[in-house]
Order: sequence, then C-alpha cells, then structure tokens
Amino acid sequence: MTILVTGGCGYIGSHTVFTLLSQNYDVVVLDDLSNASEVPLQRIAKMTSKKIRFYKGRAGDEGLLNKIFSENEITSVIHFAGLKSVSESIEKPLEYYMSNLMDTVKLLNVMIQHKIYRLIFSSSATVYGRISSCPINELNPTGNTTNPYGTTKFFAEEILKDVANANQELKIIILRYFNPIGAHPSGLLGEHPNGIPNNLFPYLTKVALGTLPYLAVFGNDYPTPDGSGVRDYIHVMDLAEAHVKALNHVFDTENINVYNLGTGIGYSVLEIISAFEKVTGISIPYKIIARRPGDIASCWSDCTKANEKLKWRATRDISVMIQDAWNWQIKNPNGYIE
Ligand code: UFG
Repeated sequence: MTILVTGGCGYIGSHTVFTLLSQNYDVVVLDDLSNASEVPLQRIAKMTSKKIRFYKGRAGDEGLLNKIFSENEITSVIHFAGLKSVSESIEKPLEYYMSNLMDTVKLLNVMIQHKIYRLIFSSSATVYGRISSCPINELNPTGNTTNPYGTTKFFAEEILKDVANANQELKIIILRYFNPIGAHPSGLLGEHPNGIPNNLFPYLTKVALGTLPYLAVFGNDYPTPDGSGVRDYIHVMDLAEAHVKALNHVFDTENINVYNLGTGIGYSVLEIISAFEKVTGISIPYKIIARRPGDIASCWSDCTKANEKLKWRATRDISVMIQDAWNWQIKNPNGYIE
C-alpha cells in the first residue's frame, strides 16, 4: 500500500514517514520545504534502508497532485502540510487560510477526482478553544478558537465533515494532537523550528544548551496548582504510531471520525522545568513574566476513544519525552543544518 504524506519532511510528518516505512508501507512525500528540509528524508532512507519518493511542492498544487496520483498507486493520504505558528497566524492570517484551508480543499478535490477516498487529517486540540474543564473528550464543543491558526483547523474540520457527509465513499479520520514533543530515540530525527522557537520544549532545550540565556515562564497566576500553564505533552513517536493505527482503522471506520491524541496527563511549565532538570542534571535558569496573550490555563485530553477504537495508547512517559528531546538537541545543535 502506498501512502501519500503531505508535509512529510516536517516534525510529526518525518516521524510518521519513518514509522510507516518500518511497518512496510510504501511512502510518497509531498512537501514544499518552506519550513523544512529534505535532510530528514535522507536520514530515514538510511535508517530504514527503504526508498522514499519525494515531490517538492504545495499540498494544494492541483497540477502536481494530478501528476503524483497518476504516477503512483496511492491508496490513502496523510495530510500534515500546513502552517502552525500561533503568533505568526495573528500577523499573517491570509497565509494561514491559504495554506491550511485552501490547500486542504484542493487536495480533497483532486483526491476525489482520482477516486482516492481515505484521508487522515492533522488537527489540533486548539480547535477546542477556551475550554471550561479538563480532561477534554471529542464531544466537547469546538470553534471557540483564540487565534487564526486554531480557526483554520476548526474550519478545515467543518469542511471535511460536509464533504464526507456528501460523499459516503470518503473515509476520513481527524486526529487532534495535544502538545507533541520528544524525538526519535536515535537522535537522527527531531523538531527543527525556524529561528527563535515559540513552543516550550524547543525553547527549553536551547536554554539547556546555553544558546538562549533563560526560559521565560508565561504567567504564574493561572488557576492551576502552581499557577503556571498545564498541558498534555505527548511523545512524537506515540503520535506517529497513532497515524499508522488510524490508517489501519480508516478502512472499516464510519464515514468520518475524530480522535484526541494525548496521554491524558497534564504537566505545568514549572513541573516540566524540574522534570527536565532531574532527567538531564542540567539546571534551567528561568524568569516568570506576564501571561502570553491567547494562552489558556489548562488543557489535557481524554483519549478513551482512541484507546478503545484505534487500539492505541501513548506508551512513553514524560522522562522518555525529555530524554529523547534532549538527545536530539545535543546531537543536532543546529537542527538539520549540517
Ligand atoms: N510557555 C512558556 N514559555 C515559553 C513557551 C511556552 O511558559 O517560552 C508555556 C505556555 O504559556 C504554555 C506551555 O508553556 O503554558 C506550552 O506552550 P507551547 O507554546 O509549547 O504550546 P501551546 O499549548 O501554547 O500550543 C501548542 C501548539 C499549538 C497547538 C496547541 C494544542 O503550539 O499549535 O499546543 O493544544 F494548537
């Protein structure tokens, strides 16, 4: 079976490509390399001794999609390609709507023209917006989003539901990720954000490395046990494995289905700092500053549905996540820039 992975050079995409190849799927990758490089694919090819067919371009390039679907026997698509920075989405909303929404619509349209009906879609817990209590399950209302990035994911989900409703041949699984961190245990694959990272983990590991002077903790006055924000961190390899489970399940699923992917455990920023210090033995300088606009106090998942229906469960705990994130960072201080 050949799977088209859009955004396969990115953080979650590359770990999923590795996992697919390890489980004997054939993989074709489409990526425009706007926020990624081909290096992870070269490394994966070596790690797995398998070939990966690569096309450079946008996930909404209809001409290129026609070519890919004509040249390869694609059975399913995993659609990761998109933009993902919350702060950037506030400055450049149109780019986010073009990439995350319009490209998704075009991809779906060309897929249907080629009678490719199986899609795994990369969504986010951000679609739940300002939630009132945790843990969150899939029945919680969505759409109360706090930034354009979140809104693109919410709208994309709505479009997928409408299209699936109109075309019963379609089989779509929407996966809502909580906070992916960690790296492949070899240290060969990991997260490579452009410029100064926005997210907690890539920032924290740069502070540990000495590249950045200290970690700014965004607020200690949230209604959480220690006042700092609480999130559900999930190992990227657990996430990658969930995609393969979803792919196996997509054949016998309802028309469209949605699953949370997290561990079900929330950690505060201050707990993460002390867990990091314990695992690595490195002390982390930090300063408490004001809350970051748009942040919520707490967000963690109820993943019972994925546990039961996809037969998937996150198996790597926070110390493994920290160990693997740190291993990646020390082995690749400049990410994929070799
Ligand atoms: N934080 C800091 N200092 C930093 C960075 C983050 O204190 O330098 C805090 C945040 O305030 C938050 C926690 O660390 O409490 C996690 O922040 P991240 O930026 O790592 O992640 P978010 O939860 O804000 O957002 C992430 C992704 C989104 C996704 C969301 C889903 O970036 O794309 O998870 O829950 F939508």
